[in-house]
Amino acid sequence: MNKSEVDLTCELAGVRMRNPLVLASGVLGTSAALLERVGQCGAGGVSAKSCGPEARAGHPNPIAVAWAGGVVNAVGLTNPGLEAEIPALIETRKRLHAQGIPLIASIFAPTVEEFGRMTEGINAAEPDLIEVNISCPNVGDEFGTPFSGSVESAAAVTQAVRANTAIPIAIKLSPNVPNIARIALAAQDAGANAITAINTVPGMLIDPYAGRPVLSNQVGGVSGWSIKPIALRCVAEICKTVTIPVIGLGGVSRGLDAAEMIMAGATAVGVGSAVWQRGVDVFAVITEELREFMAGEGYPDLESMRGMAIR
Ligand SMILES: Cc1cc2nc3c(=O)[nH]c(=O)nc-3n(C[C@H](O)[C@H](O)[C@H](O)COP(=O)(O)O)c2cc1C
Repeated sequence: MNKSEVDLTCELAGVRMRNPLVLASGVLGTSAALLERVGQCGAGGVSAKSCGPEARAGHPNPIAVAWAGGVVNAVGLTNPGLEAEIPALIETRKRLHAQGIPLIASIFAPTVEEFGRMTEGINAAEPDLIEVNISCPNVGDEFGTPFSGSVESAAAVTQAVRANTAIPIAIKLSPNVPNIARIALAAQDAGANAITAINTVPGMLIDPYAGRPVLSNQVGGVSGWSIKPIALRCVAEICKTVTIPVIGLGGVSRGLDAAEMIMAGATAVGVGSAVWQRGVDVFAVITEELREFMAGEGYPDLESMRGMAIR
């Protein structure tokens, strides 16, 4: 098959994308110019950094460190707060829509009620999808156990968000639970249109010469290629259980990784740490690698590969 015959377009909860690659939330912040550039560099969709009700400075440096297996970060949900975020998101949406690329807004909040209020507020920016971050591992002391930790709390947040918007919602889950598929199912039953999996895996780096943790927060979230097997397992378990589409992410940095995510059942594929490692052009690079793989193996479109490894 010729590369030009491969169709990489996909649809995620009613949102059309020219290819399945989505910038993961948080990795490049919320600046409209930067997120516009991600579109120019070949992404099919772009997620903004998670935004909460109030401005947050986040943790002191060091907040993110590259290591042999990827990245460990504890940024601490740095964000300008809802009021300042809305005009930035509107500008980002305009610039992305000019390129035909959807915008995914990401929200977090300390309580179920505030998730509802955040959703009501973020509607004003009219993103194509709202991703609901209930799984950040780096603010535990302040927020308690992430809402993604139990079926009940995941369902409660999903209901609160659902009740406040007609925009499609994706619930972002943590791998750090005994049964991620049950939590995904609870989110689906509570009205989610999609699942995003996975957020980072809680971890720690120690500087043996200094005799102390590398990150100021001591612990952080592990991302990048070392978590790919964990992410694939989570995506596969979720896709065997729910009927809504999944944005699969965790350790995707090559076209083959993206193919594996789709074979695990993902509809779209998030790319985060690889932007640090391979530069922002990674979207065009992965797209080309995926196209080459599919042409070589005779897959005409994503649908012909989707979920084949879990049947
Ligand atoms: C520096 C950094 C900041 C992140 N910030 C957020 C965030 O604000 N919201 C969120 O939902 N996920 C955040 N994440 C998690 C990523 O969106 C993604 O789920 C995770 O890194 C796994 O994908 P990867 O292996 O491709 O990086 C962050 C990840 C990194 C590395």
